[in-house]
Order: sequence, then C-alpha cells, then structure tokens
Amino acid sequence: MNILNSDQRYGLISIIFHWLMALIIIATFILGLNLKHNFQYYYEVLALHNSLGITIFLLAIFRVAWKFFNIKPNQLPNKVILMKLATLTHIFFYIIFFTLPITGYILTNLQGDIVLFYGYGLPEVLEQNRGLKNYVHTIHDYVGNILLILFSLHVLGALYHHLIKKDNTLRRITFFKMK
Ligand code: HEM
Ligand code: HEM
Repeated sequence: MNILNSDQRYGLISIIFHWLMALIIIATFILGLNLKHNFQYYYEVLALHNSLGITIFLLAIFRVAWKFFNIKPNQLPNKVILMKLATLTHIFFYIIFFTLPITGYILTNLQGDIVLFYGYGLPEVLEQNRGLKNYVHTIHDYVGNILLILFSLHVLGALYHHLIKKDNTLRRITFFKMK
C-alpha cells in the first residue's frame, strides 16, 4: 500500500487519519451528549471530552497539512448533485474539526472551568460569564447537531456506493483490496 494518495485510492496516512479521527469524533460526541443528559461524573467526563476534542483539533492540523502533499482520488461516477453533496460534506467536516474544539474550549472557560488536556490545565482565555456562556453553548450545540446530520448523510452515501452501486468508494479508503 502506498503512503500517498493516488488518483484511484487513498494512501496509508489518509486512511489512518480518516478512521482514527472518525473513532475519536464519535466518542467525543457521545461524551458530549452524556454531559448534557447525565450529571454523574460530570467533571471526569468533561475532562475526557476536552482531551479528545483537542486531540481532534491537533490531528486536523496535520490532516490539512497532509492534504498539501497529496492529490485527491477522483470521485467515482454518480449523479452530479450527489457528487457535489459529498464534496460539500467533506468541506464542512473540515470546518467542524476546528469550530467544535474552539467553541468547546471557550465554553469551558466561560462556565468557569479550566480545560484539561490529559491532566494538564490549559490557559484560561476568557473569564467566567454566564450570559456569553449560554450563547456559545448554543453554537457548540448547533454545530454538534450539524455534525450529526452530515455524519448520517456521509454514512448513507458510503453504504449506497458499497451496497447498491457496488463500486470501490468504501474499499479504497480501507486496507481491503479493490475490485
Ligand atoms: C469535535 C469535537 C467535539 C464534539 C463532537 C463535541 C460535541 C459536544 C456535544 C454533542 C455536546 C452536547 C451538546 C450540549 O451540551 O448542548 C457538547 C457539550 C460540551 N462540550 Fe463539546 N464537543 C467537541 C469538542 C469540545 C472541546 C474541545 C471542548 C473543550 C475544550 C468541549 C467542551 C464542551 C462543554 C463545556 C460542553 C457543555 C457541557 C454541558 O452541557 O454542561 N467540547 N460537546
Ligand atoms: C465522524 C466520522 C467521520 C468523519 C468526520 C469523516 C470524514 C471524511 C472526510 C473529510 C472524507 C474526505 C476524505 C479526506 O479528506 O480524508 C471522508 C471520506 C470518506 N468516508 Fe468518512 N468520515 C467519517 C466516518 C465515516 C464512516 C463511518 C464511513 C463508512 C461507513 C465513512 C466512509 C467514507 C468514505 C467511503 C469516504 C471516501 C469518499 C470518496 O472517495 O469520495 N466515513 N470522510
């Protein structure tokens, strides 16, 4: 397997970035929902949610940098509108990789807590402020909901390609052989 992408398939590093970040994002999202609905172990869950969320931010920087060394594999044929929707979804994912951690960081400070990154306290960028906190919380919540919608579209698209069109779209972003 090549380290770099080709016009036919994703390379090793892009595949690792994709699945590692997918896993961490899903875990962070579930922890976020837990913060909202279950107040037991709130600070332990928040510390893990913060750490994983910031990990996403850091990985996203490397993932964007890696894109500069790579070509994007050609999209496999589909209805033009669906191809455009897929590209748009990918662009929004990248925007979310940064907006959720940034709003989350600010939100944590505004509610009066220090952001913990695997046990290390990170600098406080804003002081506690209840009014502003509610506002930023709403943004973090909305962006989280947008992520959920995009994720659903993305998975449905992948399954449509794999099970109905039976093409290589899903295979070429895994370690499995292409048809
Ligand atoms: C991609 C990364 C992230 C995802 C997917 C995510 C997702 C979520 C979700 C779904 C919620 C529940 C929505 C709500 O409370 O209304 C939430 C809440 C929250 N998140 Fe995040 N988040 C991310 C990153 C972060 C980061 C990096 C921080 C802090 C450094 C953070 C801090 C918070 C806080 C303080 C809450 C509110 C908890 C509460 O309701 O008391 N988030 N997040
Ligand atoms: C939160 C989780 C996920 C995120 C944020 C995400 C994000 C992305 C992004 C940004 C791309 C564009 C390629 C790149 O820049 O690396 C991509 C490609 C892809 N993803 Fe995901 N993904 C997630 C989960 C999944 C899951 C669960 C599946 C399968 C069921 C999947 C299937 C695919 C496929 C098949 C492609 C290639 C599309 C193509 O070649 O046009 N992804 N994903």
